[in-house]
Amino acid sequence: MRTNLFCLTAVMFGTTSVAARLFAASYAGTVTSLALTKPNTTYELSILSETNDCGSSPAWLMLDGKHDVLYCLDEGIGAVNGSLTSFKVLKNGTLTKIEHLETLTGAVQSEMYSAPGVADRQFFAVAHYEGSAVTTYSLDRVKGLFKRSQTFTYELAGPGPVPDRQDAPHPHGVVVDPTGRFVLVPDLGADLVYIFYVDPSTGQLEQLEPLAVTPGSGPRHAVFWTPRGSKGKPKEVYLYLVGELNNSLSAFKVTYSGKTGISFFKSYEGSTYGERVPPVGSKAAEIAISPENNHVVVSNRNDNTFGLGNDSFAVFSCANSFRNVTFLDLYPAYGSFPRQFSINKEDKMVAVALQNSHMVAITRWDKKAGAPGTLLAEKLLDGEIPAVVWDL
Ligand SMILES: *[C@@H]1O[C@H](CO)[C@@H](O)[C@H](O)[C@H]1NC(C)=O
Ligand SMILES: *[C@@H]1O[C@H](CO)[C@@H](O)[C@H](O)[C@H]1NC(C)=O
Ligand SMILES: *[C@@H]1O[C@H](CO)[C@@H](O)[C@H](O)[C@H]1NC(C)=O
Ligand SMILES: *[C@@H]1O[C@H](CO)[C@@H](O)[C@H](O)[C@H]1NC(C)=O
Ligand SMILES: *[C@@H]1O[C@H](CO)[C@@H](O)[C@H](O)[C@H]1NC(C)=O
Ligand SMILES: *[C@@H]1O[C@H](CO)[C@@H](O)[C@H](O)[C@H]1NC(C)=O
Repeated sequence: MRTNLFCLTAVMFGTTSVAARLFAASYAGTVTSLALTKPNTTYELSILSETNDCGSSPAWLMLDGKHDVLYCLDEGIGAVNGSLTSFKVLKNGTLTKIEHLETLTGAVQSEMYSAPGVADRQFFAVAHYEGSAVTTYSLDRVKGLFKRSQTFTYELAGPGPVPDRQDAPHPHGVVVDPTGRFVLVPDLGADLVYIFYVDPSTGQLEQLEPLAVTPGSGPRHAVFWTPRGSKGKPKEVYLYLVGELNNSLSAFKVTYSGKTGISFFKSYEGSTYGERVPPVGSKAAEIAISPENNHVVVSNRNDNTFGLGNDSFAVFSCANSFRNVTFLDLYPAYGSFPRQFSINKEDKMVAVALQNSHMVAITRWDKKAGAPGTLLAEKLLDGEIPAVVWDL
């Protein structure tokens, strides 16, 4: 797709060189295709096309670059239901609807997984914040067609330590472990991470004992880390988890035993502001591993660290020989509420969804600092922007 894109946009923009294409979700009800170009010495973000076919509140995007299919989660804010839509990505960036399925409300993050015994299909799981549930889908990746498979709903006996946010279970994230055998779902309301085993012969999820995390931390999103060159059969695995409600990063050493055994040993918990006191009203959001595989990057929302409406990224080192985590520093997000971000490891750039600035920003990846670097381009869009992904 990148090769095609390059030829196509070279035609569209004359000799202009195109760096990349992106997709952004907006609570205004749009999903926008954007081109990042470099007409001269500076970068520029421009709109290629827009669609309103992902419902009223697009909140999360999942790209299957190999098959040119984009999946969009409609959170269904204020609505009885949310929805899921798959789009074919045409060569010029236009998105055409393949399938649209109603689901439980509050769909906020999804990830794909597979089962060795089911060669012709894949699966994805969706976390439903408002719906207090996890749903799964069986998927034909080539066609972009999917159907609902499983539904797990949760209840709380009583509110958690942060009652206004922990009034009910709020599954917020989905992450698949490096062996592909387990699916994890952090629940912000319950201070739990649900653990599912993927049945290798059917792809069905089997619920295991959940991981209990710090009460009141509000686990939101997570990412796994393994040393380079150990994909499939990792010798060493860590889980890094963001706590939205107390602005924390936690690290867990992961060990496997037998067929369905996975356990977590907490090796670190620290603030996404280092030694500083978290600003009132701030809430950590997204997490990713750096392209060099040695740092953890977390976005901080509503902290105004770099001035009013200029929030931050927290960067931690995680890959020294003892594997201990150290807070390094804060770096500018160039806008307000960096809710989600995607690092383009190939081109060494970061795309940030600045929800309250109604913007998408692109920054350089500063290889020397191992952190998001200077601003390259930004684009004001309609509405709040919860998510942006690279078309890779
Ligand atoms: C680069 O190109 C853009 C768009 O064509 C233009 O607006 C801008 O002024 C140019 N900048 C320089 C430094 O030439
Ligand atoms: C993109 O390509 C499709 C299919 O070729 C075409 O129908 C559509 O008009 C194109 N859109 C733009 C903005 O060029
Ligand atoms: C829509 O929401 C209602 C109320 O929560 C729920 O009962 C129903 O199952 C949802 N529809 C789908 C397709 O999930
Ligand atoms: C929040 O996170 C800190 C680490 O920054 C941890 O020490 C503390 O126990 C947590 N507090 C609450 C109330 O969850
Ligand atoms: C990392 O762990 C080692 C071994 O336990 C310890 O000696 C060292 O002080 C730790 N470093 C940091 C920065 O925590
Ligand atoms: C945010 O802070 C950085 C670093 O101080 C600065 O370069 C940038 O201009 C600021 N951006 C906004 C939008 O305030």
